Amino acid sequence: MSAATRPSPPASNDPLVHQWMPFTANRQFMEQPRIIARAEGVYYYNTRGDKLLDGSSGLYCIPLGHGRREIREAVTRQMEELDYAPPFQYGVPTAFRLAHELSQMLPTGLNRVMFAGGGSEAVETALKVALQYHRARGEGSRMRFIGRERGYHGVNFGGWSVGGMVNNRKAFGVGLPGVAHLRHTHIKENFFEMGEGTHGAELADDLERFVNLHGADTIAACIVEPIAGSTGILVPPKGYLKRLREICTKHGILLIFDEVITGFGRTGQAFAADTFDVTPDIMTLAKALTNGVIPMAAVAVREDIQQTILDAAPEDNVEFYHGYTYSAHPVACAAALATLKIFRDEDIFARVRALAPAFLEQVGAFKGMDGVVDTRGFGLLGAIEIAPKGKPGARGFALLRKAFEAGLVLRAAGDSIVLAPPFVATPDELTQMLEIIRKLIKET
Ligand SMILES: Cc1ncc(COP(=O)(O)O)c(C=O)c1O
Repeated sequence: MSAATRPSPPASNDPLVHQWMPFTANRQFMEQPRIIARAEGVYYYNTRGDKLLDGSSGLYCIPLGHGRREIREAVTRQMEELDYAPPFQYGVPTAFRLAHELSQMLPTGLNRVMFAGGGSEAVETALKVALQYHRARGEGSRMRFIGRERGYHGVNFGGWSVGGMVNNRKAFGVGLPGVAHLRHTHIKENFFEMGEGTHGAELADDLERFVNLHGADTIAACIVEPIAGSTGILVPPKGYLKRLREICTKHGILLIFDEVITGFGRTGQAFAADTFDVTPDIMTLAKALTNGVIPMAAVAVREDIQQTILDAAPEDNVEFYHGYTYSAHPVACAAALATLKIFRDEDIFARVRALAPAFLEQVGAFKGMDGVVDTRGFGLLGAIEIAPKGKPGARGFALLRKAFEAGLVLRAAGDSIVLAPPFVATPDELTQMLEIIRKLIKET
């Protein structure tokens, strides 16, 4: 049909329809919009001015609460001094400073950092580093990736291919070839166990099976979230990550930890790698890096991985043909530096460790409540799973909508209610969040 004969779309006076909202039931939203107009500390305000608790730290990305003056001032200063410079073949001081600071925080050896705009970009970057690293050391046959069922690694083609959430995959074709998925670790034996589950470390042996099936020399990397976040907080069974590490090391497979949610304190240490005492070869980071105010992500790489790639390229050549217009954006770097400073000055990760036990106890206390089929959590991440009623996910979504009316912004992953409160929330505020959820579960 030519442009001339194409019928024009129906005219609409509704100013909301023009934004196609991401990961949103757009038609439902238009019937009952949830508009957030303002935020301060651990509270949002809707357009009527009602206060709502931020139960999910934005989207896991604003652990220090909204409107931090130090970050705002750092961003403003940076915008006045240098608002942008091209990141290819040029560098900005804040980016070098930030990479250096991160290298001091990261687990030993992970001291080369490349920046990106968000978690999905970080994942693509990590996968490409893995491929090029093997190629540079003469093992270019290692092209397969191993992901995990129920994993979430963003929405770009590499990320959803290694990810394991069906709705994020099924509409988009076949994805990257050669990807296999470990089984997920949400097993009945661990239901209602808060913290690491007692059972299921042997699920890591799935990787050994893929080695036996495909040959280690075809596998580039295995990527997992240390705690699977977006699917509804699946905490690894005790010993699982260590076992995965051992199998990767034994077979020369790179282990990538996607710490986009777990990075920067969510588990009580800087990184889940520290908490679970397992060091990956590559780590992706994003949420919380700038306290949510400017999009930014980072990929931390073992020094020798970068060196191998540099050494394999002819001198004076670009060694890694990859990067984004907004990689190492100076304003994002300034926001990140200010955020890291607050983490240090306020000993924020210790605060997470102090808040977590009571928080997890309260989440665990939903056990036995009518309709609750599992509770899980670690650090300041908690999930309460309710039995589906009607379509899977419908009850979780209904609860999310009711929570907005009741003064709480939260995440629903299917029928799991997910809490990821800001680290600066008080114990009382954490209790209030859980009380609202308890009341709503009773009502629904
Ligand atoms: C573990 C993980 N990886 C990657 C991503 C993608 O990040 P972004 O939405 O910033 O692209 C997310 C987002 O939730 C995530 O949780």
